[in-house]
Amino acid sequence: MNLSGNVTLNNGKSMPILGLGVFQSAEKTYDAVRSALDIGYRHIDTASLYGNEELVGKAIRDSGIPRSEIFVTTKLWNSDQRSHRQKDAFWESMERLNIDYIDLYLLHWPVPEVFHESWTVLEELYDGKNLKSIGVSNFLEHHIDELMAGASVKPTVDQVEVHPYLTRRSLRRYLNEQQIACEALSPLGRDNKALLTDPRLAAIGARYGKTVAQVILRWDIQNGIITIPKSVHPDRIRQNSEIFDFSLTDEEMEQIEQMNRNQLHEDPETFYHYF
Ligand code: A2P
Repeated sequence: MNLSGNVTLNNGKSMPILGLGVFQSAEKTYDAVRSALDIGYRHIDTASLYGNEELVGKAIRDSGIPRSEIFVTTKLWNSDQRSHRQKDAFWESMERLNIDYIDLYLLHWPVPEVFHESWTVLEELYDGKNLKSIGVSNFLEHHIDELMAGASVKPTVDQVEVHPYLTRRSLRRYLNEQQIACEALSPLGRDNKALLTDPRLAAIGARYGKTVAQVILRWDIQNGIITIPKSVHPDRIRQNSEIFDFSLTDEEMEQIEQMNRNQLHEDPETFYHYF
């Protein structure tokens, strides 16, 4: 029943390479998580910002699957960093999720001035009991360099926007050198119609009887990128998991890399201004 594929993080923990994203899943979150767990997903990615941690936790508990078999990520929101409520925010997420421990807690954005302080709090919270791994999200090379200058624990993961229109090759190379796992947020371009109907991806998919979404997600996992496609539809949740039974050639992998057009939703250099 388990979907195949795990990544070993730099602290030795194992993380499923495919998870379900629940950003904007709203009231459909519960059913989406239940469907994903039924299909075999064992990794769910939420955030306090998404407002659905309670539903994620309830779906996990109701599934009857042992907690130890499911990997759960949540994230510290920017306003909680700015107001120095980092520790309270973590315990509030724990309470809303109500699932004993969190596998991975991420700094959602590199909020200038406070991300060092926030990281120190995460280092304190990271006790291997309530919290198994810590990491960052939306961090570029220079943010990670700055963070690590004053850190005693290295991030295990950097969750950043990555898809064929934003391949982020140099950041991925840097993360690889640093032994920080790269995790793709919005791997399908957040419902980017042009991406999901790109004829070049469709042509690759046609060779294997796969959809564009499956080709993109296969490109992720073949690059060792952890990926968390969001869907609230059981048929798509299933489709997005059927990526372990075919392989892209080196040429196809490179062809997808060349589709990069640096198209991003939120720029990590400026986005924090708005929240
Ligand atoms: P829905 O939830 O209605 O299925 P991302 O993970 O990049 O943020 O993209 C998620 C978006 O892509 C959502 O709007 C989701 O819509 C849609 N989506 C997810 N899986 C598929 C798929 N296999 N085919 C087409 N669209 C998909």
